[in-house]
Amino acid sequence: MGGVPLFPQQASTVAGRVDALYFALIGLSLAFAVPICALIVYFGVKYRRGSKADRTWSLRGQWRIELAWTFVPLVLAVGVFAWAASLYVHIERPPADAIEIFVVGRQWMWKVQHPEGQREINELHVPVGQAVKLTMTSQDVIHSFYVPEFRIKQDVLPGRYTTIWFQATKTGEFRINCAEYCGTDHAFMVGRVIVMDPAQYQAWLSGGNTAAGPTSPETMAASGQLLFSSLGCSGCHRMDGSGAGPSLVGIFGKPQPLQGDGTVIADEGYIRNSILLPQQQVVAGYQPIMPSFQGQVSEDQILQLIAYIKSLGNQTAPANQTTPGAQATPGAQATPGAP
Ligand code: CUA
Repeated sequence: MGGVPLFPQQASTVAGRVDALYFALIGLSLAFAVPICALIVYFGVKYRRGSKADRTWSLRGQWRIELAWTFVPLVLAVGVFAWAASLYVHIERPPADAIEIFVVGRQWMWKVQHPEGQREINELHVPVGQAVKLTMTSQDVIHSFYVPEFRIKQDVLPGRYTTIWFQATKTGEFRINCAEYCGTDHAFMVGRVIVMDPAQYQAWLSGGNTAAGPTSPETMAASGQLLFSSLGCSGCHRMDGSGAGPSLVGIFGKPQPLQGDGTVIADEGYIRNSILLPQQQVVAGYQPIMPSFQGQVSEDQILQLIAYIKSLGNQTAPANQTTPGAQATPGAQATPGAP
């Protein structure tokens, strides 16, 4: 909406579509509300008490009119539903080539991790023209990630992962708001998305200037691998499956058979759950002996562990052998230097 200051600018691929739906709804509402209001006034005057208006004509038996006022609104309402539902489905399903970035909300800030290892607070650097999927969680209460210029908003919940995606269409800075009242400083839980040219973004990723990390950092998967050894996970979850716990190689996104009955897809939520509440869903054939890591790992670290387990996805060999072409091979990193 160029020139209308009441409206945020359109800066993502869905912004125009969301606005079109929104204006269609306003137009449709006006198309009913204006004639009805006008007729209320007109009839009020025409048929006021004491007026000499003709009151003999009756609509009784006019089935065509009844059909019309039943089916026209029905078609309009179902049409609006179909339109809105298809847009909603589009907004809720990230494209397969989306890059992934991780967001943790807390009172009162947004913490961001890029798979390449860059971390930032209340800032989110992204490339223009590229789909970006955000996987988000909260470490305390419910927040809501909202970027008005992108027309996206998604609740960020403690104890589970939610996702949202967008593709920015112009470079620049756009405000991030928290759209769920989350306590005293809710109004100050703001940040900004910095949309950059892809080349600039690559430069930024590989050690650009950020408050969080001045030098090129470890990838999330590499940080996860360090945690995996320092927390002792690697003692039981051996690569070759000879440990007391199941091997985690290649499990990500695959169904896992559970103790007792059923299976579960090993997605982000399941892995997080297995770290914090390991007794809840034990993999078939293993003893429920894993201790909970509740209170020992932060939400940021859990995301790193997940990134590491994900990086084991396509490997059949131990992680210490690098995969050609893989940009985030954890095995390429040095072993932990400190305990
Ligand atoms: Cu976080 Cu409101």
